[in-house]
Amino acid sequence: MAEPDQPSTARMIDYWLGGAHHHPVDVAAAGAFENAYGPCAAIFRALRDFLGRAVRSIADAGVDGFLVFGAGVPTCGNVHEVAPDATVLYTDVDPATVRLGQRLLADSDRAGYGYGDATDIGTVDPAQLHRFVPGWGRRPVGVVFLGLAAFLDDDTLARTLDELYEAVAPGSFLAIDFDSEELAAYPDALAMMGPAFRMRAPARFAPLLGRWQPTADGIVPVAQWRPAGAPEPVPDAFYGALAVKPAG
Ligand SMILES: C[S@@+](CC[C@H](N)C(=O)[O-])C[C@H]1O[C@@H](n2cnc3c(N)ncnc32)[C@H](O)[C@@H]1O
Repeated sequence: MAEPDQPSTARMIDYWLGGAHHHPVDVAAAGAFENAYGPCAAIFRALRDFLGRAVRSIADAGVDGFLVFGAGVPTCGNVHEVAPDATVLYTDVDPATVRLGQRLLADSDRAGYGYGDATDIGTVDPAQLHRFVPGWGRRPVGVVFLGLAAFLDDDTLARTLDELYEAVAPGSFLAIDFDSEELAAYPDALAMMGPAFRMRAPARFAPLLGRWQPTADGIVPVAQWRPAGAPEPVPDAFYGALAVKPAG
C-alpha cells in the first residue's frame, strides 16, 4: 500500500490501541493531539472495551448478526473478534479505510467490509448486507454506532437513528457513544477536531435516541458501563449506551 500523506482518525485509533495498521503520518497526528490534550491510549482502550462488553451482551441475548457504521480498522478487539459466532458487516465512508478493512478481512467468511454512509442506510450494498447480516429487517440484529455521533449535528443524528430504528426488526440493539464536553478545557485539541465536531452533555444526547430505549444501565461514561471490575480510571471523554427496539 502506498504511504498515505494524510492521517486518518481510524488509523490514529489503531495506533492508540497498539494495532499494526497505521503509518508515520498517523503517529505524527496522534502525537500532535496528545501534545494539546494529553495521553489518549487508555481512553481509546476504555472505549474499545465498552464495545467488547456491549457486543458480548448483544450476542448473549441471542443476536448473531451485526452491522457496524464508521467502523475504522476492524482489529484490536473489534466486533467479529469479541462475538466469534456472529457474522459482521463493517462499513465506513472513507475509501482508504474501506480498502484496508477489505484487505484485513479478505480471508474471513463471516466478516466483511464495505462502503456505507451511516446517515443513509441505502448506501450499504444490499448483497453484502444480506450475506453478513442475514435476515436484516426480519431478525434482531446489533447495530454498532461508535465514534460517529460527534460528527453529526443533532437533527442528522436524530433522523439517522430513527431511520435505523425503522429499518431493524424488533428485538434489535444499538450500541452508541458520543463525545462529552471533556475537550472544552483544551481549545488547541478541540480545534484539531474540525468544525463539524460536536460535544454533548448526556441530557442533550438522550432525546436524540428517539424511539430507541436505553437499557437500565443508562447513558454513562463508557468505563462505567457494566464494568468487569473497578471501572478503568480514565477521563470521561466518551459516554455510551446500549439501546433496544423492544420486541413485540
Ligand atoms: C473516530 S473514527 C471511529 C472508528 C471506530 N468506530 C472506533 O470507535 O474506533 C470515525 C470513523 O467514522 C467514519 N465516518 C465519518 N463519517 C461517517 C459517516 N457519515 N458514515 C460512516 N462512517 C463515517 C470515518 O471515516 C472514521 O473511520
